[in-house]
Amino acid sequence: CGIVGYIGHRDAYPIVLKGLQRLEYRGYDSAGIALYDGESLKVCKTQGKVQDLKEKFEKTTDTSGTIGIGHTRWATHGVPNDVNSHPHYSNSGDLVIIHNGIIENYDALRKELISRGYTFQSDTDTEVLVNLIEEIKKQENIKLGKAVQIALNQTIGAYAIAVFDRNKPDEIVVARLGSPLAIGVGEDEFFIASDASPFIEFTNNAIYLEDGEMAIVRRGRDVKIRKIKNDNLVDPYIQELQLNLEQIEKGGYEHFMLKEIYEQPDAVTDTYRGRMLVEQSLIRMAGVDDNLERFLNADRIIIVACGTSWHAGLVAEYIFEDIARIPVEVEYASEFRYRNPIIGSKDVVIAISQSGETADTMAAIKLAKEKGAFVFGVCNVVGSSISRETHAGAYTHAGPEIGVASTKAFTTQITVLSLIALKLAKAKGAISNSDFQYHLEELDLIPEKIKQALASNEHIKKVAHKYMNAANFLYLGRGFNFPVALEGALKLKEISYIHAEGYPAAEMKHGPIALIDEKMPVVVIATKKGHYEKVVSNIQEIKSRKGKIIAVVTEGDQDVRSMADYVIEVPDTVEALTPLLTTIPLQLLSYHIAVMLGKNVDQPRNLAKSVTVE
Ligand code: G6P
Repeated sequence: CGIVGYIGHRDAYPIVLKGLQRLEYRGYDSAGIALYDGESLKVCKTQGKVQDLKEKFEKTTDTSGTIGIGHTRWATHGVPNDVNSHPHYSNSGDLVIIHNGIIENYDALRKELISRGYTFQSDTDTEVLVNLIEEIKKQENIKLGKAVQIALNQTIGAYAIAVFDRNKPDEIVVARLGSPLAIGVGEDEFFIASDASPFIEFTNNAIYLEDGEMAIVRRGRDVKIRKIKNDNLVDPYIQELQLNLEQIEKGGYEHFMLKEIYEQPDAVTDTYRGRMLVEQSLIRMAGVDDNLERFLNADRIIIVACGTSWHAGLVAEYIFEDIARIPVEVEYASEFRYRNPIIGSKDVVIAISQSGETADTMAAIKLAKEKGAFVFGVCNVVGSSISRETHAGAYTHAGPEIGVASTKAFTTQITVLSLIALKLAKAKGAISNSDFQYHLEELDLIPEKIKQALASNEHIKKVAHKYMNAANFLYLGRGFNFPVALEGALKLKEISYIHAEGYPAAEMKHGPIALIDEKMPVVVIATKKGHYEKVVSNIQEIKSRKGKIIAVVTEGDQDVRSMADYVIEVPDTVEALTPLLTTIPLQLLSYHIAVMLGKNVDQPRNLAKSVTVE
């Protein structure tokens, strides 16, 4: 979920509304806003998108008021409907709250409150929290901030909240544990949001709350930060933001996803700029350099991640093992954390996360740290929770990724991980100087080659048109490109809702081959490098069962062309870097199919870009 708040001298409504639109990547099944204009509290909420909220709000109420909070939801407790949408208010109607996260012991708290005469409109844990705050405030006759603090100390779970009291509309109380919360500091005004994008055009100064902290934000005055547990005061640390408005707008593209696909040449360049010094045959990465011994003495590397980031981890496994000769295991963060994993102090854990906020990945990191492992983060969002929780790390510098289906985050993650693998290989002597240099030169050419791969866009559109009505797709690849097949299938599932499976090409004969008939499109990655002949045999197997073949091949390939229904060419490169190129046509293919099917590409149903619940 995403949360936004404003307190100051301007009208809160347009700021909160626009802020919610920028945060829709965090969830978009319902939305709501509460405003106070000095006389009445106006709350409007609805199932659906922020746009639906806008229409409903502007039809029914006036939107004045200089204090406001808003929420865009990804449902956990209770189906997405108007009643379960946030903000929620307390029984007296005085307190309003927005909440991102889960209160795990809400049921017990709810029963307790019911026994004290409270009633509930919704099925949410949030309504329980706001009434708990009200009950404590009443019983103890204390200020809102104190009541919030006592209430939070009675809850188990995760949250980022913002709450205000209409009887005291000069302050908003916020708190965080496990879900992000930033406070924008303007002149006599404050902004609150899950990330800085809602207030970037108003101020460059932000305070990021740490886990376990709460803040009282007072109109025209100051921000007071305390530890929720022991009440200690914390000095606010104001950070200067690097983000600019252009980065979070569509810039002429029809969708964020397409813009982000096309940004990949620049994003990859930004990722290696300053780190890869081709002329000096050197890779410089502070996070790795400062901890080189830990990496070199590692018994193994364990990679933890979710979704697309997990696929980048799988590509990295091939690269690390092949080039740096370090054993690697790749784990779903959600499985790792509950598996009682065997980790030692000589293990290096690499956590990969675009958002840096994924709850399962965060929990896996905490567990690995408890067990004494050194944890290294590969995140895109600067200052995110994971980037702060890890011992060291490297940012991907892809710039904001807004489309829910991850694209440039994936290629830049692979870029960072390749740099690390190459650096370690060199330090260990696992790669010759000339081979090292060759890899650097090839990586340096990748942005240009991604541009060439993007040039097949119109051709890929035709392929998309041909197969857009298929009910199933199979994606096959081997070696470094097996994870690319998984990622290609995931992209199609996510945005077009067509069922798709990724498989190692040779494994196909042990099961999925039974699915192949004349209606089944099979996307095969068959680049010249690595197991080419074997993949060609796999293509023959599909062909003899009448499957339709869409092959991603190396420029100039003739053999596969004679067998496939369609070929899509990508430039040649060293084997380890082929995923950076073969991924591109698969992203475009799923994009065009989803557009042709009329799906919401940037905000596919049921998904959220940043999942801060487990
Ligand atoms: C969500 C997104 C995926 C993403 C995954 C991991 O499920 O929809 O696109 O790959 O989370 O996110 P992270 O931010 O940790 O990379």
